[in-house]
Amino acid sequence: MSQRPYVIDEMISAKSIAARIEALSHEIAAEFKDTEQLLVVGLLRGSFVFIADLVRELDLPVEVDFLEVSSYGDGMESSREVRILKDLRGQIEGRDVLVVEDIVDTGFTLSRVVSFLSARDPARLRTIALLDKPSRREVDVTADWTGFVIPDEFVVGYGIDYAQRNRNLPFIGKVRFPDEPQP
Ligand code: PRP
Repeated sequence: MSQRPYVIDEMISAKSIAARIEALSHEIAAEFKDTEQLLVVGLLRGSFVFIADLVRELDLPVEVDFLEVSSYGDGMESSREVRILKDLRGQIEGRDVLVVEDIVDTGFTLSRVVSFLSARDPARLRTIALLDKPSRREVDVTADWTGFVIPDEFVVGYGIDYAQRNRNLPFIGKVRFPDEPQP
């Protein structure tokens, strides 16, 4: 597949991400300290790295499930139509649920997922996003916990892709196109 050439500049290091996840995991454990079992729901595909690191820091009885949702396809613009491609395996009625998202951009994905899961009457439904780009918001939604608030940059790595590439970078990087005039 031919692609416009781009370079990736490191924006958030693997070490900073790990430190932030450790801090967030204490807050989440405090919130759910009385839970029988917390169901941690990762939104595929972007959250797969984040959820793997987060659950290993969580000192709670945890179960893991995944929802697959998609709004961007291979493009850089949200289609604003969030499709549920794969549902959860189990029931969530009466359960404590934590939704794990990699990034909140326009907010369409998180908002749709929260409505979709709330309709199933979980006991507590909370959300966490590693990254938040509030300047891009079109739907009024904010995760209960956020790792890093970032400016409106195109980011990749730590699970996040550009045309399905770069999800395996251990850090969050900013995509830059050398053929574009710099501001
Ligand atoms: C990306 C990202 C978030 C969502 C955020 O998913 O992983 O889930 O977009 O954008 P929004 O706030 O504008 O809705 P994408 O649809 O690209 O799927 P992927 O996770 O499989 O990469």
